[in-house]
Amino acid sequence: MSHIQIAVDGPAGAGKSTIAKLIAKELNYIYVDTGAMYRAVTYFAMQHNFISETHLHTKELIKNLSDITLQFRFNETLGFAEMYLNNENIEQAIRTIEVSRLVSKIAEISEVRAKLVEQQQQMGQNKGIVMDGRDIGTVVFPDADLKLFMTASPQTKAQRRFEELIEKGQKVTFEEVLQNVQERDYIDTHREDSPLVKADEAIEIDNSNLTKKEQFELVMELVKDIL
Ligand code: DC
Repeated sequence: MSHIQIAVDGPAGAGKSTIAKLIAKELNYIYVDTGAMYRAVTYFAMQHNFISETHLHTKELIKNLSDITLQFRFNETLGFAEMYLNNENIEQAIRTIEVSRLVSKIAEISEVRAKLVEQQQQMGQNKGIVMDGRDIGTVVFPDADLKLFMTASPQTKAQRRFEELIEKGQKVTFEEVLQNVQERDYIDTHREDSPLVKADEAIEIDNSNLTKKEQFELVMELVKDIL
């Protein structure tokens, strides 16, 4: 097999994107962060006042979904693809704690999922792709050649997200991030449409005590077995 599809699922802060990016780079594959797409729809909904901490106008959002065009554009300097909403670079704007607080509510809406899953499936048509998210091995690419399910302890997951946000200059406390990660994981695993579950054939990797290098070597061994 020359080009394969690799699905990487797991809860928030489990280190999915770190390993997915490394593997994609090594194989010269496309890397797709599907969480960024759900965050982009959330950002759109916030801008149009369809959602806030106190309300959610699901029907209005659904009516306006056709006004949303999402694109990943590769940034040579940064070495990764940034998220664009209707030609606007929203890569920074979607990583805030405000978006993180609302995104799981948007990700529960079936119409939103259907739109994003369709686009994700198109991106993977030619294989040669590493995609991370919550439903990649179960819904987006049920026939993926390799399915990984990443996990880590709750403390490790929250600590990773906390460090990411601090690095981006955001003012958040560890407790705030821990609470957000726990709330999102609860909604993401309990929603009706495409909940986060480990696909039967997925290989589970708990990376609480693994270095990036160890994870990379482990996954590359699995990839080589398939190729
Ligand atoms: O990967 P992330 O933490 O940036 O994802 C943000 C949210 O988007 C996550 O809490 C649930 C939702 N999501 C989803 O429902 N399905 C995906 N394939 C990816 C993300």
